[in-house]
Formats: sequence, structure tokens, C-alpha cells
Amino acid sequence: MKPLRVGIAGLGRLGRRHAENLAFSTRDCLLVAACSPVQAELDNAPGLHPGYRRYADFDAFIRDDEIDAVVLVTPTPLHAEQTIAALRAGKHVFVEKPLALNVADCERVEAVAREHPKQVAMVGFVRRFDPSYETARRSIAEGAIGRPFVVRSQTCDMNDASGAFIRFAPTSGGIFMDCSVHDIDLARWLLGQPRAERVFATGTIAIHEGLRPLGDVDNGFALVEFEGGVRAVLYASRTQAHGHDTHTEVIGTAGSLRIGQDAARDRVVTCDANGVRHQVVVDFFERFREAFSREMQAFVASCRGEQPVTLSLSDATEATRIGLAITRSLKSGQPEAVW
Ligand code: NAI
Repeated sequence: MKPLRVGIAGLGRLGRRHAENLAFSTRDCLLVAACSPVQAELDNAPGLHPGYRRYADFDAFIRDDEIDAVVLVTPTPLHAEQTIAALRAGKHVFVEKPLALNVADCERVEAVAREHPKQVAMVGFVRRFDPSYETARRSIAEGAIGRPFVVRSQTCDMNDASGAFIRFAPTSGGIFMDCSVHDIDLARWLLGQPRAERVFATGTIAIHEGLRPLGDVDNGFALVEFEGGVRAVLYASRTQAHGHDTHTEVIGTAGSLRIGQDAARDRVVTCDANGVRHQVVVDFFERFREAFSREMQAFVASCRGEQPVTLSLSDATEATRIGLAITRSLKSGQPEAVW
């Protein structure tokens, strides 16, 4: 079978990483085209096949007949329309999270995907491809902790004193849609896809006042009530002093599992007159380097018909639905129903 011909749209912070992974650690694919409105990004795109095609215009990019699949790493408000356009142009689609910032757009994408059942449509919930999270899920399915009923999960970035991330804030959907959407997806995945009924959220600004006019916070806390007494407790932060500290605990009737505790960079622990300590990862990419690579490998394998897509668009819709309810609760200060 010929290699899958992939085009990438968006070559910013994460797009460059996906391009590198596609080019250097994914079998059976060629990165043949790139799209960005920024010429310098196109000129410096990593890993593109010699003679690759460069597009400033997205519509021209998806009309390229020599692209089989597209990887969309563009700003969040563009995800839904670009996914729909690419599916209609006959491409397999990988799109970064969140799928959209409203449920109606998610459902429109789902409807178009149903009209193109032979094409893959996958959303970037990268943590599902992390080996530790995969092991945890398998253990839970095998009954290791009895019946799981609580997930406590956090996504916490190291503080960026420059506040550069504030420029993403107007388009990210806020801290819960941007960060906690991963924990929401994990909670559903680890707890067996229960239906969320009600949420409560609060937040605070510890450092970055620039978020206040946007109605956003730099530390957010949320409780999700799922059907059947199942609960999730979520924390998201932009202000950690020690590094990128993303971890999850799953509590069951016969035990619990902890995934990614203490943000350890490696297995080295130093014990000296100052105490016992280890180095920590600095950002999401360092923590999930292997998962990002496995995610692209899974996408390419699914497009080639070698494995099923394990992540459905409806999972992405549910993550958006719950994230939006949490965001409403942050603003209203009241518990909010999930609808
Ligand atoms: P970024 O702003 O660094 O990059 C966005 C890129 O899209 C830039 O290259 C920009 O030139 C390009 N772009 C803008 N308009 C475009 C258009 N009409 N057509 C094609 N390209 C266009 O943003 P970043 O941080 O790379 O985030 C991109 C997406 O990835 C966001 O949706 C974000 O939520 C998601 N993301 C996911 C992460 C994860 O853990 N899975 C981590 C970081 C980001």
C-alpha cells in the first residue's frame, strides 16, 4: 500500500510538533503539504517532504488532490468549519481539541462525518495515547480497583511570568475549555462514559490580571456530577511554580490508581542535605511527548484501515458540552445543568 499523503494546517506551537512527529516518527506516511497564513511558518516548517506544497489559503489546501489526510492544528474557533470543509473535500481529518466552542458546531461536524463514513475524523485527546493512562484504563476494565466512582484530575501549567498565553485566551474558550477539556474526556473514558448531569465551578486570578477583562481565571476548580453517583473533581492552573503538573487519580470501591503523580521528568531522585527531590517536566509537550507521537501513528494507521478509531466525535461533543456547562457555572457562580 502507498504511504498516506498528509497535509498539515497550522504550524504554531503544537503544529510544528505534529509535523515533526509525522515526518520522523510515523511509518507509512509522507508530509506533502502545509497551510498557514504566515509565510515564515511555511518557510520553516519542519519535516516536510522535499518539494512539498505550501498554501496560504485553506480552501486551496483542501482542494489539493494529492493529499489523503489533513492534520488541523489551527486556532480553536476554526476547528469545526475546517473539519467540515476537509471532510467534504474527501480528506481524513485529525483536528486538535476542543472540536468546537459550542455544541451545535460539534453536532454539525458529527452530521457531516456521518455522510462520509469511510473517512476518519479524530479529535486530539492526546492523553488517551499516553502509555500510563492506557495501562490505568486497562487495569480498571479488568476490575483492579473495583467499581470506579471518582476521578480527580488536574492540568496545571508552569507559570509563564511573561503572560504570553493571555494572547490565546480570547480564542481558547477559557481555562476549562482549553485545559480541563482533557480531564473531562479522561474522566468519561476512565469511568465508562457516564452521562454528566450537573456541574459547579469557581476560580480565581492568582497572578495574571490580564485575564480579568476576558472573564477568565488562572486557576479554576470544577465538580462534575455524572449519573449514578459518579463524580469528577477537576483543577486547572496556569501558575504552578515547579513545572507542568498534570496528573489524575481514579478512586474505586476496592482501591485507587494514580497516574503521572509528581510530574517526574525521569526516574532519578536526589537525596542530600536539602532533602529528597526529583526534576519535573516543564510543559505539556515534555510530559506527553510519547503520547503525541503515538497519537499521530494511530491516526495514520486508522486512515490506512489498519486499526479502528478509538475516539469518537461524540466523545468530543460531550467534552465540549460539559466544558461549556462548567464555564457557565464559573460565570454565574451557580450550579449549572449540563445540556
Ligand atoms: P498557535 O497560535 O501557536 O498556532 C496556530 C497556527 O494556526 C499558526 O501556525 C497560525 O498561523 C495557523 N493559522 C491561523 N489561521 C489559520 C488558517 N485560517 N488556516 C491555516 N492555519 C491557520 O496555537 P497552538 O498553541 O499551536 O494551538 C493550536 C490548537 O492546538 C488549538 O486549538 C489548541 O487548543 C490545540 N492545542 C492542543 C494541545 C494538546 O494538548 N492536545 C496543546 C496545545 C494546543
